[in-house]
Amino acid sequence: MTDATVLNALAQALERDPRNGALWIHYAELLVAAGRAEDAASALRTAAELSATRKQALGKLVPLLREQGKLAEALIRAEAALELGHDPQLAREIELIQALRGAPSEAPPATQPSSPPRAPAATPRPKAAPPSEELAPAEIAPEPLADDEWASQFDWGDLRLTFADVAGLDDIKRQISLRIIAPFKQPGVFEAFGRKGGGGILLYGPPGCGKTYIARATAGELGARFVSVSIHDVVDKYWGESEKLIHALFEHARRSAPTVLFFDEFDALASTRGRESAQFFKTLVDQLLQEMDGVKARNRDVLLLAATNVPWNVDSAFRRPGRFDRVLLVTPPDKAARESMLAERLRALPGGEALDVRGAVEKTELYSGADLVALAERAGERALERSLASGKVHRVEPKDLERALAQSRASTLEWIATARNFARYANEGGQYDELVDYLKRIKKW
Ligand SMILES: Nc1ncnc2c1ncn2[C@@H]1O[C@H](COP(=O)(O)OP(=O)(O)OP(=O)(O)O)[C@@H](O)[C@H]1O
Ligand SMILES: [Mg+2]
Repeated sequence: MTDATVLNALAQALERDPRNGALWIHYAELLVAAGRAEDAASALRTAAELSATRKQALGKLVPLLREQGKLAEALIRAEAALELGHDPQLAREIELIQALRGAPSEAPPATQPSSPPRAPAATPRPKAAPPSEELAPAEIAPEPLADDEWASQFDWGDLRLTFADVAGLDDIKRQISLRIIAPFKQPGVFEAFGRKGGGGILLYGPPGCGKTYIARATAGELGARFVSVSIHDVVDKYWGESEKLIHALFEHARRSAPTVLFFDEFDALASTRGRESAQFFKTLVDQLLQEMDGVKARNRDVLLLAATNVPWNVDSAFRRPGRFDRVLLVTPPDKAARESMLAERLRALPGGEALDVRGAVEKTELYSGADLVALAERAGERALERSLASGKVHRVEPKDLERALAQSRASTLEWIATARNFARYANEGGQYDELVDYLKRIKKW
C-alpha cells in the first residue's frame, strides 16, 4: 500500500471511530512522515481532547507546534500537559518556546500585542484531517474556487436552533439580545436611547461550552442565515489570498442578509509581529477591520459574532468601539443547566426519562456541554451493547450512567488552568475581570 492509501484508510477508520485516540496519534505520525505537519497537528489536537490519549497527544503536539512557529499555542498546550504530571521533556520544551518568544522562562505568557508569528502555510493545503465528532464548520475545499463560490460554502444547513435550546448562559443571551437582536429587530426603539447598532460580540471560554452553539441559536432567534467561518482555515489554507476571500465573504453575507456572520477560532488572526508573516497578517487584519467598519456603515443586517479559546491572542485592534467591543466569557454549565442538558440527552434513549440525574449533576462540576453530551452517549452505548447482544431493546439503567461517569472527566480543566495565568498576570485594563470573578466563584483562583 502507498502512503496515500494507508492515510486514506486511516482517515476512513477515524470517521467510523472518532474517539479512538491511539488511532488519531498513529494517523498524526504518518502525516508528519508525509510532510503534512498542519494536518498532523489537527489530528493530535483531536487526540488531546480524548482523555485516554490526552497526555501522549500533547507531548507530540507541543514540539510540532513549536516547529511550525505556533508558539502561543505550543506554550499553552505544554502548560496544559504539565498539569497532567511532571515531564522533563515538556519542561525543556517550555524553555525552548519561551526562548523563541524572547520571554524569560519563569514569566507568565506574554500578552497582546506581542503575539508570536505564525509560520506561513503552503497553499493550497491538502484536505484536513477528518473532523472530530464535535460540530465543525463546513469544510473548506482545498482547490482554488471563484470567490463567491468559495464564500457560499460556509452556509450551514437550516438547522434552526433558538435560545430555548441553549441551557443556562442567561447573561450571554441577554447581552446578545440587547446588542445584536434588538438593534436589528427594533432599530427605532434602540435609536431613541441614543444607541447605535453595529459592532459585534467576541465569545471566549473553554472548549465545548456552547460558543458556536449560541452563535447558531442567535441566527435562529433572528430567522437569519448563519455563516460560520473558521479563521484558522482561512489563514492556513488560503495563505496569500485570504483578504480577497474575506471581502467575498462579507459581500456574500450582505447579499444574503439578514446574516449572522460567525468567525470561529478568531485568534488565528493573531500575529501582528514577526518576520515574513507580519505583512500578511497586517493586510488580513486591515481587510477584516475595513469590512467590519463597512458592515456598520453599509449594511445593518450583517450581524457579527466571533469566538476563541484564547482571547489573549486576539489583536486589541478588534476590541475597539464599533468592533468586537463586548468580550464575554462562556462558562461551563451551572447545576441547573447541567441538569436540563443531561436530562434532555438521556430522555432520547430507551428508559432514559426514568433516570434520576441529580447524582450525576453533582459529580459533573466544570464539565462542558460537550462533555455532558458524551457522557449521555456513553451511558447509552452500554445499553445498546446489551441490546445488540440479546436482540431486544434494553433500557439505560442507573448503573450505565454511573459507569460512564466513572470513565469521564471535565475537559475544561486545562483551559481553566491556563486562563488563570492570564487573568492573574495579564489583566490589563480589567479585561479579564469577568474571568477573575468566575474563577473565584468556582474556587480555582
Ligand atoms: N449551553 C448549552 N446548552 C445546550 N447544549 C450545549 C451547551 N453548551 C454546549 N452544548 C453542547 O455541546 C456541543 C459543543 O458546544 P460548542 O460546539 O458550541 O462549543 P464551543 O464553545 O464552540 O467549543 P470550541 O471552543 O471547542 O469551539 C454543542 O453542539 C451542544 O450539543
Ligand atoms: Mg466552537
